[in-house]
Amino acid sequence: MRAADIVALLNDPAPDPARLNAAVEACDRAYFNDLDAFVPDQVYDLLVERLRLRWPEAPALQAIGGARPRAERSEDGAAAGVADVEGGGDPHDDEGRVVHRVPMLSLGKCYDTQSFLQWLGERTSPLVASPKIDGAAVAIRYDASGLLIAAGSRGDGRRGDSVLHNVRRVPKVPAQLDVAALAGVGVSGVEVRGEVVLPLSAFAEVADLFANPRNVAAGVLKAKEEAGVPPERLAFFAYDLIGLPVEGEVGKADRLRALGFEPAAVERCRPDEAPAVFERWASARSELDYEIDGVVFRIDDLAEQRRLGSTAHHPRWAVAWKLQGDSGESRLIALEWSLSRTGTITPVAQVEPVELSGAMVSRATLHNLSTVERLGLRVGDRLSLTRRGGVIPHVEASLGGGSVACAPPATCPSCGEPTRVHETEGPSGTRTLRCGRPAACPAVLRGQLFHYTAALEIDGFGPKLLDALIEADLVHDAADLYQLRPETLQRLPRMGATLATRLCANVEARRKVTLPALLVSLGIDSLGKHAADLLATRWTLDELRQLSIAELAALHSLGSLTAARIVEGLHDAAPLLERLLKEIRIVEVERAGGQGGKLAGQQVVFTGKLERMGRRDAQQWVVRQGGVAGAAVTAETTMLVVGGDELAADPPSSKLARARRSLQAVGKPQILSEEAFFALVDAL
Ligand code: IVH
Repeated sequence: MRAADIVALLNDPAPDPARLNAAVEACDRAYFNDLDAFVPDQVYDLLVERLRLRWPEAPALQAIGGARPRAERSEDGAAAGVADVEGGGDPHDDEGRVVHRVPMLSLGKCYDTQSFLQWLGERTSPLVASPKIDGAAVAIRYDASGLLIAAGSRGDGRRGDSVLHNVRRVPKVPAQLDVAALAGVGVSGVEVRGEVVLPLSAFAEVADLFANPRNVAAGVLKAKEEAGVPPERLAFFAYDLIGLPVEGEVGKADRLRALGFEPAAVERCRPDEAPAVFERWASARSELDYEIDGVVFRIDDLAEQRRLGSTAHHPRWAVAWKLQGDSGESRLIALEWSLSRTGTITPVAQVEPVELSGAMVSRATLHNLSTVERLGLRVGDRLSLTRRGGVIPHVEASLGGGSVACAPPATCPSCGEPTRVHETEGPSGTRTLRCGRPAACPAVLRGQLFHYTAALEIDGFGPKLLDALIEADLVHDAADLYQLRPETLQRLPRMGATLATRLCANVEARRKVTLPALLVSLGIDSLGKHAADLLATRWTLDELRQLSIAELAALHSLGSLTAARIVEGLHDAAPLLERLLKEIRIVEVERAGGQGGKLAGQQVVFTGKLERMGRRDAQQWVVRQGGVAGAAVTAETTMLVVGGDELAADPPSSKLARARRSLQAVGKPQILSEEAFFALVDAL
């Protein structure tokens, strides 16, 4: 078929469906084989539209294209179970960008029952509702054998940036799909689409450095180098599957789960139930650990999806019902500067009360001095506010209108010492304001003691009592708590013998602490429960205090920012720790290496290119087997696994050379090829 025949076909008022089908197939073949379209996209789109109207079940509409980045194929690709067209091929273009063989479309929007009903029209077929996850969309490609081969951002919908190197490290993105779950796959493999997010619990640790979790997720995905937050902290929710037969959207979610993904929640409902389903998600929003900005309703029936098709912008078979009231405007009444237990002085906007997502908001944190400077805040400004994840009030922008500049305080609001500006090296080079002498600032001390007693569950030490203790000069740091005696406590106002005795007993009862609890109690930025548990399963306190930022960042899913804060924090806490260790006893928590996995007691280092899995995956795998994955050969290393040709390399790599010397001197580590290593572990 020639281009002229196609034009003739389009001019025909009643074209033969079989000829239309043949024309679409010819275009596909031409595009596919020659990597070039022989009709313009608009003509192709018209052809497909005609064919869909006249013959919705046409074979050309059923097939999944190998490499046809054409809008009107998208829903067919998503829906059809047939994947027997030839080709898979490299999904990248010459510039290394990922070509979306099925374009990544947007979604039509509605805002209330009325606009939802408008979208629904006459249709009565069952729907499937999912939360609309507010993250960065990615398309992840696997070849026919289930091997991860490409991952792209949405880009312009037809081509996106390759984000493979980081997507590999996102949990719940398998590097290899379970072959048993691949039944029905065609030669062009499988594509999974979904949303990458930074969970709010992880965002909380860096909220002072980044605008919102979506930006962090998108930034981390694209980053060429470590962007402060490691991809391991991201989460992936899958909502689309292309290239495998499925029955309806719920079946799609089941199949995604069988492949090893976490699908976005799906729930079937009748169209008349949609408003109630929407309301339910709206109120569940604040309990989720990720941000959602609406509910997506899709028509469950894939044949009907095919029949409805898409515009160039969005599928007609889906709509996003947007959550409302999640942003609003108010006026800045005053800027408060609030002192934290670490001595940081955080700006907080006091605003005229405004209702956001169903709650009255009158305060919103501004995180740090940089935010105030970036927004150029003046008292009286109109502010645009949102609630992150529907919960935390957040100032998005200043709309101006105010007159009084918000100068940061020159002295600490608590102790009156001159403040100083601290510049962090983070990706955004954040400026924070700090009390000039936190060590001598009573409010800082009170905050630290409050945090310490809360972390170690020492009951009875509320802010009032702590203030009284500080005022009476009885405590200067957490270690002093253990020196308190009922007699001394009784000198405080309104303190009877019974209470004093009980308080001392509470302190006594907590002299045994676990390492994670102790680490958290120190109140180091970024050293929360997640990080503390992670560290404590691998290292003792002494080992931890010796670690460099690089060692901490390399081995575990912490990220360089967190690692730097922890190393710095442990260093600063050294004097307190020395004093505390005279009072408390650390009780063992089980270490990962001690739990009796196949690699218990082994410290494994990889070098060279691995065939079986990426280095990161291999390291994580070692940890799952109860071992420790090291970044460099040290005295602790028990196995060096050498990938690729490195065993024969001349000169040997530095890791290998070092391992050989160490093997001669102290009889370890074992030096193994990749193959030998996995065979050994299999046999264990
Ligand atoms: S279904 C367009 N389900 O929102 C194809 N999309 O603003 C059908 N999104 O492009 C997509 N959560 O990247 C679907 N549960 C969900 C989603 C979701 C987030 C994204 C998706 C889409 C964008 C439109």
